[in-house]
Amino acid sequence: MHKPSNILTVSSEPQYELLDSGGGEKLERFGTHVLSRPDPQALWPKLLPESEWKKAEAYFTRNDSGAEWTYVQGKPLEKWSIDFGGLKMWIKPTAFKHTGLFPERASNWKWMGEKIKNEVLHLTHKNSAATEGVVGEEQGIEVLNLFGYTGGASLACAQAGAKVVHIDGSKAAVTWARENAELSGLADKPIRWIVEDARAFVEREIRRGRTYDAIVMDPPAFGHGPESELWKIEEHFLALIENCKKLLKPEPLFFLINGYSAGYSAIAYENNLLSLQKQYGGQIEIGELTLQESGHDGRLLPCGIFARWEK
Ligand SMILES: C[S@@+](CC[C@H](N)C(=O)[O-])C[C@H]1O[C@@H](n2cnc3c(N)ncnc32)[C@H](O)[C@@H]1O
Repeated sequence: MHKPSNILTVSSEPQYELLDSGGGEKLERFGTHVLSRPDPQALWPKLLPESEWKKAEAYFTRNDSGAEWTYVQGKPLEKWSIDFGGLKMWIKPTAFKHTGLFPERASNWKWMGEKIKNEVLHLTHKNSAATEGVVGEEQGIEVLNLFGYTGGASLACAQAGAKVVHIDGSKAAVTWARENAELSGLADKPIRWIVEDARAFVEREIRRGRTYDAIVMDPPAFGHGPESELWKIEEHFLALIENCKKLLKPEPLFFLINGYSAGYSAIAYENNLLSLQKQYGGQIEIGELTLQESGHDGRLLPCGIFARWEK
């Protein structure tokens, strides 16, 4: 049976705030720095006066000659850290207008964290008669995070008690993720940081007979592995999902697919999870990921979609 779709939202935190959006742009505060970036979803008027938008220290613009950050002080902002979603993350304006953090993803960090904590508790109780109530290495929850970027999802899962395999095709992204782990005090958690093409890694894991309790992925519309292996969502997504299903343990915990730029409906993702529900029972939720403006009206900025299956 279909459940109604969900609008998940992340509201402001002391060190992250969506100050305003509109006119194809968004204004955000990351710690003490205010940034302005284009956002094609923001098809409505701004609420704050232009004087507030002018407080941005850096703004990203696209023009005929390309796209770039402009720094009001004349020199680029060095990286800085913020507390966010129970983690500490390095922030830095990068090419392609990103900052190292997709804050709307925190709704699912929380969801995964709770699923993992509950399962660890469940395993601990199950074990308590035979052992001292400790979950053994071989019984821990193993999570595979594909297209893991700067590590938010991996760190949230590790913090909740899972062992994590983090895959990203960009060496710079994996380095950033490891630095976030250190900053968050999670450097000693069992996370394997791997720079590899997501499709190649999954195929190799199938050959090795490896399995996971849970899979999370955040596939971009288009990307590259470290050896320039092409990723195109319309060509490669279906086979990747089918291969990922082969990596699930007999009683999996969850399968979460996030998306943000490809223009797909969450139903397109959901239809790939129906076979999991048939095989293992459980439920599927789909919906949108949003950020809530900190102003009085609390408008929502749509930032992506998700579909998640859980036991
Ligand atoms: C923008 S991120 C997703 C957001 C992130 N998971 C989060 O929670 O904040 C997409 C990532 O996919 C990676 N990527 C692109 N093509 C890839 C490929 N073929 N194999 C592995 N990673 C790839 C990029 O390097 C990038 O880090």
